[in-house]
Amino acid sequence: MEKIFGIDVQEHEKSKRILNIRLNDEIIEKLIFPFNKFDLTALELKPFTRFTIAKSLDDLTENKLSKLMNSIIRDRSTGCFIIGPSNISSKINDKFLIKLSTATAHLIGVPNHDSMAGKYYVRFHIKHEDASDSYLRKAYVNMDLHTDGTYVKEVTDWLLMTKLEEKNVKGGETVMLHLDDWEHCDDLSNDPVGKQNFIWGSPKSKNVDYKVEHPVFSKDEEGRTKISYIDQFPEPKNMEQGIFLQRLSDALEESKKKTISNLPVGYSLIANNHFWLHGRKKFQENTDLCRELLRIRGKFFKFNK
Ligand SMILES: [Fe+2]
Repeated sequence: MEKIFGIDVQEHEKSKRILNIRLNDEIIEKLIFPFNKFDLTALELKPFTRFTIAKSLDDLTENKLSKLMNSIIRDRSTGCFIIGPSNISSKINDKFLIKLSTATAHLIGVPNHDSMAGKYYVRFHIKHEDASDSYLRKAYVNMDLHTDGTYVKEVTDWLLMTKLEEKNVKGGETVMLHLDDWEHCDDLSNDPVGKQNFIWGSPKSKNVDYKVEHPVFSKDEEGRTKISYIDQFPEPKNMEQGIFLQRLSDALEESKKKTISNLPVGYSLIANNHFWLHGRKKFQENTDLCRELLRIRGKFFKFNK
């Protein structure tokens, strides 16, 4: 792999399909000034400012970082990377990490509006107690393998998750599964029920007041299998669909090919949402448990010709 100034790229210790990109201290130091030019309100209200900070990051690597990230995320054999600072100094706080995540996202594509937060990103806490209506914030149950954006009209090509903070945490590891590693992919994706339209709704907290219809499995332009699935949101319309979803859920959860890892604080995980599934293991109980994540999801760039 070509050496790029200021960054170090390695294979992830748990998976050859995931790359680990570390930004060295010099890059981080040089980002502080351009990042300080915009506060979070500006980034939230003026979309072009997000591209300005993204360019600052890319320029520091002679525009090679964006090429690298785009090639990884679009490559079927990889499709996933983690990126973050080599060293977490006192200059790296939550605001810095939101800007770094914004810059990373805007080198790959355009974020979708996140209805849960009413902006292009959402930050959410996981704590000991929870009264919400989805699995997202429930600390003591597994979040099963799924893709994002199953219940919205926008295409979700990729997702980014950044760990902003973590305290008193044991468990809660990130679980990832690539479709081409999954033992049951052929079996289930070739089942005619998997190609039927399912109805997908969502609970109130998601602030999406419509339902969409699409199959679980489809094909990309090159005929490779894609998946759009989460356990909580499809509304089976008959026994056949109900039983299929149960079989699918069991086949995903029992897979031995999952990659289980801990995302370090300050790091973002970026995955292609068409052929990578993600989930989270349950946390060990602790009344002081606290984790905060940031999420951005979006589309790949389309270029004007
Ligand atoms: Fe998710």
